[in-house]
Amino acid sequence: MLKVENLKVRYGAVTAVKDVCLEVLEGEMVSLLGANGSGKTTTMLAIAGALKAVSGKVTFKGKDITALSPERVLRNGIAMVPETREVFPDLTVRENLILGGFIHRRKRQQSYQDLEQMLDLFPVLGERQGQLSGTLSGGEQQQLVIARAMMSRPKLLLLDEPSLGLAPAIVHHIYEFINRLRATGLTILLVEQNAKMALQNAERAYVMSLGKVAKKGRAAEIAASSDLEALYLGG
Ligand SMILES: Nc1ncnc2c1ncn2[C@@H]1O[C@H](COP(=O)(O)OP(=O)(O)O)[C@@H](O)[C@H]1O
Ligand SMILES: [Mg+2]
Repeated sequence: MLKVENLKVRYGAVTAVKDVCLEVLEGEMVSLLGANGSGKTTTMLAIAGALKAVSGKVTFKGKDITALSPERVLRNGIAMVPETREVFPDLTVRENLILGGFIHRRKRQQSYQDLEQMLDLFPVLGERQGQLSGTLSGGEQQQLVIARAMMSRPKLLLLDEPSLGLAPAIVHHIYEFINRLRATGLTILLVEQNAKMALQNAERAYVMSLGKVAKKGRAAEIAASSDLEALYLGG
């Protein structure tokens, strides 16, 4: 479904992603792991069209999307939930969700159906739909940004560090929701610092180190590999 070939991305003189190749098949959850600064977020931003690739190619469902704007990438069915977890704090939960659906010119009725579906799928958002989003807890805001991204009806969801800064019990809760979304047929590329959580849930994983893919395989194989810790500690 998604194919990234020899991706290279620079910030000025700094080459953050040197040569990344990865693939995500339809229906899979694939995890992108690696130490802080290894290039995971940069890879995701380039897939989403938010950063321009210096070279390499991104193909989605057979279409070359390398040079598309973030809006065009979204319209093609790829939504990203950035690690910054930004809600519109002065808008209600419901208003935040409605904004997520604006990318498609749809009949009002359809947008309301999508909204109701998200409020059902994330019960806490349903309970708090009239509450200002800035007053939600971290875990609730994480649910909101995921649900808001789903309002664009993506086929592929890019999730950057959904567990960042959340207590373990909340992290388990977030993964329950992620797995519920997967059950609806959603394909996911997941960036995680929390390798244990990612490898328990994903089918396959890529481990990045210094802007390259240092290791790839089935999640169980990666979890059992002896050099995983070294890859993290070595950056
Ligand atoms: N806006 C930026 N300007 C310059 N360098 C950046 C910027 N964002 C990230 N980097 C650098 O790019 C590298 C990869 O960062 P990033 O993709 O955020 O890694 P990760 O998500 O794996 O922690 C790091 O060395 C980081 O310092
Ligand atoms: Mg990151």
